[in-house]
Amino acid sequence: MATQLPTTDIRIGADLIRRRKGGTPIVCLTAYTYPIARLLDPYVDLLLVGDSVAMVLHGHETTLGASLEMMIAHGQAVMRGSAKACVVVDMPAGTYEDSAAQAVVSARRIVGESGCQAVKLEGGVDMAAQIAAIVAADIPVMGHIGLQPQSVEKDGGYKIKGRTDENVAALIADALAVEKAGAFSLVIEGTIETVAADITRRIAIPTIGIGASGECDGQILVIDDMVGLTVDRVPKFVKQYADLRSVIAHAAERYASEVRDRDFPGPTHVFSRTNGGDES
Ligand code: KIV
Repeated sequence: MATQLPTTDIRIGADLIRRRKGGTPIVCLTAYTYPIARLLDPYVDLLLVGDSVAMVLHGHETTLGASLEMMIAHGQAVMRGSAKACVVVDMPAGTYEDSAAQAVVSARRIVGESGCQAVKLEGGVDMAAQIAAIVAADIPVMGHIGLQPQSVEKDGGYKIKGRTDENVAALIADALAVEKAGAFSLVIEGTIETVAADITRRIAIPTIGIGASGECDGQILVIDDMVGLTVDRVPKFVKQYADLRSVIAHAAERYASEVRDRDFPGPTHVFSRTNGGDES
């Protein structure tokens, strides 16, 4: 069993993440619930309440199933369960793309109602005005370029980016636009490795890779993919560090058999007038 890292009462802010450019890699994971946030908080620098929650926990086909209310509720749970990590909440599709004004209203709701440190949104050159407006409203923004799950229907699937010269130029333009707009960090998802490494060298804010490059300033994975809980599609770039599906299935199988055999509950799982106090 790994040793617990020392906990601290000081929560990591977006500014500290920005200053980690080029330093010790920034450890990020997604989290959507109170117990998982409590488990992960000692080990990570940043917890992302990703809109992947719509697929992972709510069973939607794509992240387009996420709503503002869903993100705020999960953001609140993750804030309650963490003390140290910088908590970033995703802006769901349909809550920021129309205008800078719409983006600021949504970002204010997310931060105001969840208490998180920052928001994340997908897009590069096309979303620079939104990022700049949210930053001007004093809300730190994490960018997200490359494979953008909110565009998966438009793109016709989960397609790796940066395979053509034209696409590489567009990715670099996106990264520079996000940096110029004032984002404190940038997620690069699903790109050719050398492109993500090149972008990491070109911009002054930390890059957080997922299916990108080991040269990024940090890495992120979806927690359920990482611990082997994901039921449906797991992307090729995921490394699975545990197999919790098997652990849960095995526990459920044993429970079912013990209930059917009347082995559970046993004497220590029931109350008598003599075996203990009033507390359950
Ligand atoms: O929604 C999410 O989980 C994400 C990560 C994959 C970066 O955006």
